[in-house]
Amino acid sequence: MVHKPSTFLFLAIAIATLVGGSHGANILGLFPSLSPSHLIIQMSAAKVLAEKGHNVTVVTVIEPVVTHKNIHLILVPLTKEEAQLMSDGIGSMSKSDNRNMALSMLQALGQIDFIFKKNAEILMDDRVRDLYLNKDNKFDVVLSGYFLNEVQLGLARKVNAPVIVVGTLPPNQLMNSLIGNPLEVAYVPPMGDSVERGRAMSFLQRLTGYTSSLFFGIVTYLTDRRNRNLYEDVFGDDPSMPEYSKIIKNTSLIFYASHAPSEGPIRPNVPAAIEIGGIQIKDTPDPLPQNMADFLGNATDGAILLSLGSNVKGSHLKPDTVVKMFNVLSKLKQRVIWKWEDLEKTPGKSDNILYSKWLPQDDILAHPKVKFFINHAGKGGITEAQYHGKPMLSLPVFGDQPGNANEMVQKGFGLTLNLLSLEEPTFREAIMEILSNPQYTQKVASFSSLYRDRPMTARESVVYWTEYVIRHHGAAHLQSPLVHMNWIAANNIDIYFLFAVILVISILLFKTVVKFILRKFFSKSKKQKKQ
Ligand SMILES: *[C@@H]1O[C@H](CO)[C@@H](O)[C@H](O)[C@H]1NC(C)=O
Ligand SMILES: *[C@@H]1O[C@H](CO)[C@@H](O)[C@H](O)[C@H]1NC(C)=O
Ligand SMILES: *[C@@H]1O[C@H](CO)[C@@H](O)[C@H](O)[C@H]1NC(C)=O
Repeated sequence: MVHKPSTFLFLAIAIATLVGGSHGANILGLFPSLSPSHLIIQMSAAKVLAEKGHNVTVVTVIEPVVTHKNIHLILVPLTKEEAQLMSDGIGSMSKSDNRNMALSMLQALGQIDFIFKKNAEILMDDRVRDLYLNKDNKFDVVLSGYFLNEVQLGLARKVNAPVIVVGTLPPNQLMNSLIGNPLEVAYVPPMGDSVERGRAMSFLQRLTGYTSSLFFGIVTYLTDRRNRNLYEDVFGDDPSMPEYSKIIKNTSLIFYASHAPSEGPIRPNVPAAIEIGGIQIKDTPDPLPQNMADFLGNATDGAILLSLGSNVKGSHLKPDTVVKMFNVLSKLKQRVIWKWEDLEKTPGKSDNILYSKWLPQDDILAHPKVKFFINHAGKGGITEAQYHGKPMLSLPVFGDQPGNANEMVQKGFGLTLNLLSLEEPTFREAIMEILSNPQYTQKVASFSSLYRDRPMTARESVVYWTEYVIRHHGAAHLQSPLVHMNWIAANNIDIYFLFAVILVISILLFKTVVKFILRKFFSKSKKQKKQ
């Protein structure tokens, strides 16, 4: 019996599966992000795994741009009303001046409150419930795209798989607590900003950092409360589900969209923090569509790429701003590729301008004729330009964009102007400065060489660490004790308090003893005087 060839074959396959462990694994990605640029990063991670031969199932709310034939897509779309609400929200944000990040974050939170509800709704969708109700489905790991949606970590527990959070930011206060990555506000500015090389953080910088950290503390508290309630709504009927507070202390790893050695901030990260910055960028560019290849190929004076991102459509711009931009750009020697949604109603006709609804941005930036990039300071676009060593002129609108733009300018990679108060002369001057002054290109090119110099590429990191979590059924052994400590213990407040109490008691004791001795001495000397 034992020597039958089929038994051998079966054993061989079983052993190969056990040893290989992570080959052809079943991976579930939950990416409910409403931001196309966040989804690109998350889908790029999923795509790398699909290319490696894994069976990847992905849940999204918007149609992803990045896909792969081995990725099964479950699309839970926004209703028409929800889509309109989103579009209106972003439109009104880009028309009012809010360069204050905290304020625009708060506004964004208020206006897109339904994101929370949507996150819970997605989890109650029949096709998503089927992922755990149908016992034929087995998942080896869950990738959970992050956006204030801790509630969905419950789904990883439902399918009984370890979870990796895919963040689309550098290490930051909103996500760090999941893996106990320290905040270190004294020398790490919030939300991934950097301190100038060779410097300490000044008093003012630390004060700003600390205040922002308090603000984000409030945001975290509020979103946590919201998620806790949603968790009850979605998973409350299942008594086998652990408490919410346990669910959020069980994340194996976080993939952060950053690369500290080139971008900063230089900070301590726990072993569960894995940086995969640049995951969305191809190692070698794809050929451009023929019209763009010709347009750029014939650009004897070089070319400029203009894209204000996927969130801010052309129609959200003030009409006179568009006219001003056109007036400047149409008079340049350089050719311009302008991302514009409505090809029926373009800002104007000019031989040196090519409008396109859709752009292979990464491939265009890789083109040697492209001299610089006019963008809205989205993290994705800046990352691509930095990767390809192209200087930038940033016109930020809202959210993290003003911060990204200022950081980019501080590094010397380009200039920034306020999109809402854009005037022709300043716009023209900024473009001329970047075209004529080589220092921007030199700085960004030297960054580019640091950014690409890594022991493992972003793609290799995603594959290695995902398979690592699959092989070891989670990464509990990597978890920092900080995950299980409250604010008082984490900052040794109780120990300071104990020391303070001991100090006070010692002082009081010392005082009493001294008083006692003095009184004895004085009363003696008084007695002596009297005698
Ligand atoms: C891939 O995953 C899906 C979802 O769990 C499952 O239905 C399908 O059978 C899997 N395919 C393979 C080849 O394992
Ligand atoms: C934590 O995750 C592991 C898988 O990595 C799972 O086996 C365990 O049940 C989870 N614990 C809780 C409390 O969710
Ligand atoms: C320049 O443009 C023409 C069409 O106007 C095209 O045939 C030619 O291939 C282009 N040259 C390059 C180098 O792309």
